[in-house]
Amino acid sequence: MAEYENLIVEQRGGVTLVTLNRPQALNALNSAVLEELITAFAAFEADDTQGCAVITGSGEKAFAAGADIKEMADKPLSEFYSQDMFSRWQSHLVCATRKPWIAAVNGFALGGGCELAMMADFIIASDKAKFGQPEITLGVIPGMGGSQRLTRAVGKAKAMDMVLTGRMMDAAEAESSGLVARVVPADDLLAEAMKTAAKIAAMPPLAAKAAKEVVNAAFENTLESGIRHERRMFHMLAGTADKAEGMAAFVAKREPRFSGR
Ligand code: CAA
Repeated sequence: MAEYENLIVEQRGGVTLVTLNRPQALNALNSAVLEELITAFAAFEADDTQGCAVITGSGEKAFAAGADIKEMADKPLSEFYSQDMFSRWQSHLVCATRKPWIAAVNGFALGGGCELAMMADFIIASDKAKFGQPEITLGVIPGMGGSQRLTRAVGKAKAMDMVLTGRMMDAAEAESSGLVARVVPADDLLAEAMKTAAKIAAMPPLAAKAAKEVVNAAFENTLESGIRHERRMFHMLAGTADKAEGMAAFVAKREPRFSGR
C-alpha cells in the first residue's frame, strides 16, 4: 500500500476507509491532499476485494474546512488558470471512481470540504456536522463544484442563501434539505458509515457500479433518455453471472454468493 502523509488509508473487509489527516489545519484540502486522494481512490478502484469506500476527517472538529486558503492566498490568477486548478477533483477523483463511496461528515464541511462531501455518492452526517460554502467571504466563489452540486441537492433558494451569505447549515437542516442521507449521533458516525459501506460492498459489484451510473445520469439526461439508459443497464446486468446467482438464490431461499462477473 502507498505511503500517505495527509491521509490514513485502511482496508476493513471490503471497505476502504480514507481519513483526511491534517487536523492542525482542520483537514484543509491542499494540493498534496488531492494528489494522495487520487492515489488512494485509484488503488480502491483497482482492487477487486474492495467494494465501497468511506471518507471522513480526523479529529472531532472538521471533516474538511475547505481548500487550503494559505496555499491559495498568494497564488496569481495566471497559475489558477494555467493549472486549471480544481479540475483534477472532477477528472481524477469523481469521474475515475466508478465504485460507490460515502462521505461520513464528522464536523465542519466548508467550502471545498462541503464540495468534497458532495462528490461522494451520499453523505452520512454526525449531529455535530456543519455545512457551508463561505468562499464569498474570501472574495471568491465555490470552485470544486459547489454551486452546481449544492443547487442540485437543496434547490436554488437554499443554495443561493448559502453561497451568497456564506452561512452554515447544521445537520438537521442539511437532512431536511436533502443534502445528507441521514444524521446519526457523533459517536455512532463511523460505525454507521462503515456498516452501510459494508452492506454496499457485499452487493454484486457490477450492479453497484451500474446503479451509481444511472442515478448520476439523472443529473445529465432528459427523463426519456435517462429512463432508456436505466433500461439498457438493466438489460446489460441480465447477462451477468451475479444476476443468475441472485435470482437463483432468491428462488432457492438461500443467501447469494456473488462473484463480480
Ligand atoms: N485553509 C487553511 N487553513 C485553515 C483552513 C483552510 N480552509 N481552515 C482552517 N484552517 C486553519 C486555521 O488557519 C488554523 O491554523 P493556525 O492554528 O495555524 O492558525 C487552524 O486551521 C484552526 O482553525 P481556526 O483557528 O480558524 O479554528 P476555529 O475553530 O476558530 O474556526 C472555522 C473554525 C470556522 C472552520 C474556521 O477555521 C474557518 O472559517 N475556516 C475557513 C473556512 C473557509 O473559508 N473555507 C473555504 C475555503 S476556500 C475554498 O474551499 C475554495 C473552493 O471552493 C475550492
